[in-house]
Amino acid sequence: MNSWEMMIHAKLASMAEEGLQRELRPIKDASQPILMYQGKELVNFSSNNYLGLAGHPQIIAAQQRSAEQGAGATASRLIIGHDEEMEELEEELASFHQHEAALVLANGYMANVGILSSFLGRHDAVFSDRLNHASIVDGIRLSRATHFRYRHGDLNHLEELLKKAKTRGIKRQLIVTDSVFSMDGDIAPLRDIVFLKQKYGTALLIDEAHAGGVFGKHGEGLAHELQISEQVDLHMGTFSKAYGVYGAYVLARKEWIQYLHHTCRSFIYTTALPPTVIGGIRQAIQLVKEGMNLRIDLSKKSQYFRDELVKAGFDIGGSTTQIIPVCIGDENTTLTFSRKLIERGIMSVAIRPPTVPKGTARLRFSLMANHQWENIQSALVAIKEIGKELEVI
Ligand SMILES: Cc1ncc(COP(=O)(O)O)c(C=O)c1O
Repeated sequence: MNSWEMMIHAKLASMAEEGLQRELRPIKDASQPILMYQGKELVNFSSNNYLGLAGHPQIIAAQQRSAEQGAGATASRLIIGHDEEMEELEEELASFHQHEAALVLANGYMANVGILSSFLGRHDAVFSDRLNHASIVDGIRLSRATHFRYRHGDLNHLEELLKKAKTRGIKRQLIVTDSVFSMDGDIAPLRDIVFLKQKYGTALLIDEAHAGGVFGKHGEGLAHELQISEQVDLHMGTFSKAYGVYGAYVLARKEWIQYLHHTCRSFIYTTALPPTVIGGIRQAIQLVKEGMNLRIDLSKKSQYFRDELVKAGFDIGGSTTQIIPVCIGDENTTLTFSRKLIERGIMSVAIRPPTVPKGTARLRFSLMANHQWENIQSALVAIKEIGKELEVI
């Protein structure tokens, strides 16, 4: 073995020993509430397809129509990849969210990495919730700004760090937070964060990846639901979750978007999204706007699922949304739980470090508006039985 092989082998062996091995599962029908795995039907509690739109015939038909315009965008946005449809999509997005301007990016990961590394530099400070998504962490690292990580949702800690940065004389500061936390299903105290943003004169970036389409009267996101969207300088979200398609957006004042056109490397140096994706997104936006009933269904099913788990004695952390963790702690027990669920016809993936902090392994259940009630109920029976067998409850 050469030194590379030794390093790779040792890393994989130590991850397996700690119950942290990862595996790719070939799945069919992941866009549906019932998916197929190894020839078996499983109730799908593992997708981010919260409104069930990924399998929606109108979106698929729109994608097929758009495919007539070409299989790919052929160039980056600033070359000839800025299709007329994209121009219309960005105008539509800005007016939907009542922001001055919008920018569509390839995906949420590239959006966060690009936005953060473009606005922040070595002399700036960024305040980031400890449980923010990995793409935020990576964007901050790339920016080389001073990184202040505040304890999850802890406003006192955030303020303490804001004061610290002030005494160090750091001029430009930015607070960044997920609005719905992807592995915990709890929500950020956005109103209080806005208060601190104003008090300390910082900028604010929120990541609405798991809230876009789900919260707000028309699915605009949590900032709109809480009526603080005017205070948000950079409002980012994805089309890959509730919208059921792919891609990401950021909304901001016109000059801030122009600044991104000039400086955001994950926007400038990559091929534009293909026409099928743009067509799908435009149709998905219409369905999200009209999707009040889907949002109500999702909310009812999520509430029921959370209540039943809590009654049975499970720890679901601070979840108040469609993302519901069953907190277990031990990695191997979590893996065993997930495997037993698969045997009982339920797909809920074990989430382990480094995706979540050490000692906080969990099953992550995510609800869909079009889950059948009887499937939810039978899943709850199985979860409770396995929970008792493994002494989780
Ligand atoms: C909070 C958050 N932000 C960003 C992303 C990345 O989005 P995308 O999957 O579109 O790259 C995710 C996806 O998992 C997420 O959970």
